[in-house]
Amino acid sequence: MATSTRKPVALVTGGGSGIGRATAVRFAELGYSCVVADIDEQSAKETLSMLQTPGIAVQVDVTMTTSVEAMVTAAVQRFGRIDCAFNGAGILGASARIVESPEDAFDRVMDVNVKGVWLCLKYEIAQMLQQEPVVSDPARWADKPDVCRFRGVRGSIVNASSHAGVNPFLYHSPYCASKWAVLGLTQTAAIEYAKDGIRVNAVCPYVTATPMLTLLKEQSPPDIQHMLDATGHPLGRHAAPEEVAEAVCWLCSDACPFTTGEHLKISGGL
Ligand SMILES: NC(=O)c1ccc[n+]([C@@H]2O[C@H](COP(=O)([O-])OP(=O)(O)OC[C@H]3O[C@@H](n4cnc5c(N)ncnc54)[C@H](O)[C@@H]3O)[C@@H](O)[C@H]2O)c1
Repeated sequence: MATSTRKPVALVTGGGSGIGRATAVRFAELGYSCVVADIDEQSAKETLSMLQTPGIAVQVDVTMTTSVEAMVTAAVQRFGRIDCAFNGAGILGASARIVESPEDAFDRVMDVNVKGVWLCLKYEIAQMLQQEPVVSDPARWADKPDVCRFRGVRGSIVNASSHAGVNPFLYHSPYCASKWAVLGLTQTAAIEYAKDGIRVNAVCPYVTATPMLTLLKEQSPPDIQHMLDATGHPLGRHAAPEEVAEAVCWLCSDACPFTTGEHLKISGGL
């Protein structure tokens, strides 16, 4: 088992915007080398330019096996391993009740939000299984040999679910279904690979101030606009993407070795 002072490596999908961008920035501040991946390569490069840490920008379409496999290969070729991954790439889809929803919109949302997360898990975990477990702070756990961190961790993954992954979401049935599905994937992956030293968790943010929120406001019918109005929230504001990023980085870190298969609500009390 390795102990090391090298920089840990974080991979972020959807890293070109919003929560993914804020997460890459926070990982870099915490000393991680970063792989910033997005379908929009230019936006991934912009995020990379914000980081004061070694990194690469990778163009990826998370719905395509070859593309996800190439992303993981690029990360490993550059940095040798993937310690943490945030599977943040996602789309909202159209706003419509079920009867009016086009079938192809359902397929596209499920493709990106569910198959995309599944493919990322598949290739990230395959890589992590090949990695030596790392103990980052052995002295701290010397008297607790049963603590899993003492045995080392191969990797830690966080998936982007949503408040809509544990609640209904009017006019967004495919999105809602996709985010509930992400929790099923998260919990299943967590128990399948727990004994391998790989943790898998999810975050469930409420409305967060990103380009996705702008889109949501633009396309939502008047009768749900009040739900998107920050003044109606108990905290009187929307979450900042940095607040979600902080939670993602904590879940990925060695600070919570017994936390796996969990979903963390970041909803300001709702
Ligand atoms: N903003 C919110 O209110 C909110 C709340 C809960 C959950 N989420 C979830 O958090 C994640 C990030 O959301 P955000 O608000 O930052 O959205 P965003 O639209 O700002 O960013 C999403 C990113 O995903 C990328 N992407 C889309 N399709 C892709 C694909 N096929 N392959 C690779 N990248 C792709 C986009 O290019 C974009 O950069 C999403 O999964 C979203 O569903 C957002």
